[in-house]
Amino acid sequence: MIKLYSISAISLLFVMGVFLSGANTAEDIKSVIEVLESKGVDYSSKKPNFNIAGVSAEAGKQLFHEGFSQKPNGGKTKKQSKHFVCTSCHNVEKEDPDLTVSDPQARLIYSNEKGLPFLQGTTMYGAVNRDTYYNGDYDKKYGDLVEPARNDIRGAIQLCATECAQGRELKDWELESILAYLWTIELNVEDIGLTEETASNMDADGIRAKYLQGSPATFLPPPPDRKNGSGLVGNSENGKLIYENSCLHCHYRGEYSFLHLDNSRLSFKHLKKNISKYSRHSLYQVTRWGVPVKSGKRSYMPQYTEERMSKQQLADLRAFIEEEAS
Ligand code: HEC
Ligand code: HEC
Repeated sequence: MIKLYSISAISLLFVMGVFLSGANTAEDIKSVIEVLESKGVDYSSKKPNFNIAGVSAEAGKQLFHEGFSQKPNGGKTKKQSKHFVCTSCHNVEKEDPDLTVSDPQARLIYSNEKGLPFLQGTTMYGAVNRDTYYNGDYDKKYGDLVEPARNDIRGAIQLCATECAQGRELKDWELESILAYLWTIELNVEDIGLTEETASNMDADGIRAKYLQGSPATFLPPPPDRKNGSGLVGNSENGKLIYENSCLHCHYRGEYSFLHLDNSRLSFKHLKKNISKYSRHSLYQVTRWGVPVKSGKRSYMPQYTEERMSKQQLADLRAFIEEEAS
């Protein structure tokens, strides 16, 4: 039943797409991948398999946002993770104004204007458009586990479900459903500054140069001297954006963590007094190394790469915390 519905919904969208492409409004809805496919680029291996019972974008959306869905034969699935949902760490909207660069400060301003959190994981908007996943230094963290994920979006989803979300493995129909959901948030030509017409006049390489084919990831250590930090002068106004859009996303009322943080002096004093310590309560340590999985309590905090929080931004966050604590 669910399967039939999703197939008919997709074919309906397809018919609407064909219909609309005759009209002037088509420019806004044209998918980048459709244009690339018309130029011979092959994305077929990334398409979800709707032949498996239960696969639908709606089920995938629910799994992604709520952590469970309806089983194909009725009833609710078990929660995918006890600790997180996928949106704990990933947006599903466009979060960068210019998709040719990964610039954390441009992202912070842009996502704040849109009311989006500022997170460790890259947005899933346009994930199906990328060629590689868990790039850069992520192989240092996950070692051989990255191998099946780097060039395969299915491997990336499964790795994240078990390692990032610290949950159970996804069943085939769940994995395909999440993939089907990700296809509903692929890039449009206007996201990369083109129209259907300008895109159709470009070659595939030219179009692909308009957005990153993978999200770069550089690990940074905490500054060697935690007392003096990086030596950069922090801007506390910018730090406030980071605190509210990032730290509070998970820590306010202990949303995804046992540590409760808010805008009270108590929170800021707690953070401030630990900054220079060599412990997991130090701002430098938690942001750059994350908090590891504790045995028996498999929750952890993912680290921020340089592309997800710059050295300057970390100095800004420190400045804000110190200002609010005094
Ligand atoms: C606790 C945080 C966290 C949770 C929960 C989480 N992820 Fe991730 N995810 C990450 C981080 C960090 C990365 C590293 C690469 C990146 O996104 O920049 C990542 C990477 C990915 C990637 C590869 C992205 C890329 O371009 O490299 C996919 C796909 C993905 N996650 C899917 C999921 C799905 C599906 C779920 C839910 C089942 C999920 N994630 C839950 C933190 C998380
Ligand atoms: C994606 C969710 C998430 C984000 C964003 C996040 N944290 Fe965490 N943080 C966690 C989790 C989960 C833990 C693990 C401990 C737990 O389960 O309570 C943790 C642990 C910590 C700890 C150590 C607490 C302890 O008891 O060991 C500190 C300090 C901390 N976070 C501060 C921050 C700050 C500051 C920010 C913003 C820069 C931040 N966190 C952003 C999820 C997050």
